Amino acid sequence: MISNDQQSIHGQWSSRWTFIMAATGAAVGLGNIWKFPYLTGIHGGSAFVLVYILCVAALGIPMMMAEVMIGRRGRQTPINTMRALAQENNASQSWQLIGWSGTLAGMLILSYYSVIGGWTIGYIIHSATGSFSGLNGEGASALFQEFVGSPLIQVGWHTLFMIITMYIVGRGVQSGLEKAVTYLMPALFVLLLTLVGYAMTTGYFMKGLAFLFTPDFSHFSGTSMLTAMGQAFFSLSLGMGTIMIYGSYVPKGTSIASTSVAIALADSMVALLAGMAIFPIVFANTLEPGAGPSLIFETIPVAFGHMAAGMLFGTLFFVLLLVAAWTSSISLIEPAVTMMIENFNMTRKQAALWTGLATWLLGLGTAFSFNLWTNVKVFGMTFFDLLDFLTSNLMLPIGGIGIAIFAGWLMTKDTSHAELNMNTEAGYSLWQILIRFIAPIAVSIVLIHAIGVF
Ligand code: PFF
Repeated sequence: MISNDQQSIHGQWSSRWTFIMAATGAAVGLGNIWKFPYLTGIHGGSAFVLVYILCVAALGIPMMMAEVMIGRRGRQTPINTMRALAQENNASQSWQLIGWSGTLAGMLILSYYSVIGGWTIGYIIHSATGSFSGLNGEGASALFQEFVGSPLIQVGWHTLFMIITMYIVGRGVQSGLEKAVTYLMPALFVLLLTLVGYAMTTGYFMKGLAFLFTPDFSHFSGTSMLTAMGQAFFSLSLGMGTIMIYGSYVPKGTSIASTSVAIALADSMVALLAGMAIFPIVFANTLEPGAGPSLIFETIPVAFGHMAAGMLFGTLFFVLLLVAAWTSSISLIEPAVTMMIENFNMTRKQAALWTGLATWLLGLGTAFSFNLWTNVKVFGMTFFDLLDFLTSNLMLPIGGIGIAIFAGWLMTKDTSHAELNMNTEAGYSLWQILIRFIAPIAVSIVLIHAIGVF
């Protein structure tokens, strides 16, 4: 039986503000600071940015509202929440599969996210010890290859990153997750603004802004459009239950619509600010904005290696990336941890230990993808590429379609109307249209495209 007054056994956020910070922490991650700028670079800049923002508004916000709403109503781990809500709405018990798939996706994503999170730690050290100074493109590439080419280094940083993640998760909602985000999120904003301020001194700030904001559709294609949609989804952490579990800790009476808008705005703002910090630095050093995934780990070190105070600001840049990755990581494992507590009667510390260990083990596959196992390919992909493809291109969209259909078609209008409790009827009707029709159709197109590419 569902009672909206009940509180999750795992705890509750102290306030709406903490929820906004925690969910923004989950959303703001490598996707904003690493992926968004390089995708923008590849897809021609401003046109991509424009479509991305439209996708966040029309798809991301209604989907986020749906996930928070489902989470807060169920007040349990995504698997048990979906089971309980399916029962409440006389729907098939198979809907809990969405919970299972999301929980698994979280662990799979964290397993590789942790390896990349480990790179940020390695690069903090590189930057702080002056490895970037005077570096040219070839040197940066060699540095990166040497770094990822060492299994020992990869496993070492991956292990450290997993330990700091699981330590926070093991401490629980209020003394772990909440405390971490209340320190780390303001730190992240300060770091980001500092770097934007630094970009302003390069003399290429206006060029960076023009690249991001002057509409130019010459490099924009159908694929760019679908990439923008997929990125909006990944960036807001939708489709896999992390927002659902964070939603389950939201106090009753918190406005879901305005909170979701705030989180989406903050997430997009960080992505845009990251672009504003990175592109002027890229242009100032006549580097290529469309360098792709290596933009952060190969291009940026070259840039900082040639700039005044580059050692300091380069280090700050990688600290920023670490903080962003860390706050997302704690959200990625939360569904699995709470599942172990609810379904296997573990304490939070035991659950954190076991899920952390399993994810760490899985992460070894990614750590070795860049060295020992570079030639081990499944469907033509390395272990890392396969995981990324499976999660971002298949599991997240499928979870998203399921959540949209469940919230729009299976939950009664009375329930969603009462849970969302919006100020205007028009707002609720708009949400219904977006969640019933636009979201499932748009995300299905992204999914079909992804499978086609495959
Ligand atoms: N939103 C994160 C990012 O932009 O890096 C990635 C992510 C985190 C996806 C948590 C999904 C998730 F559940």
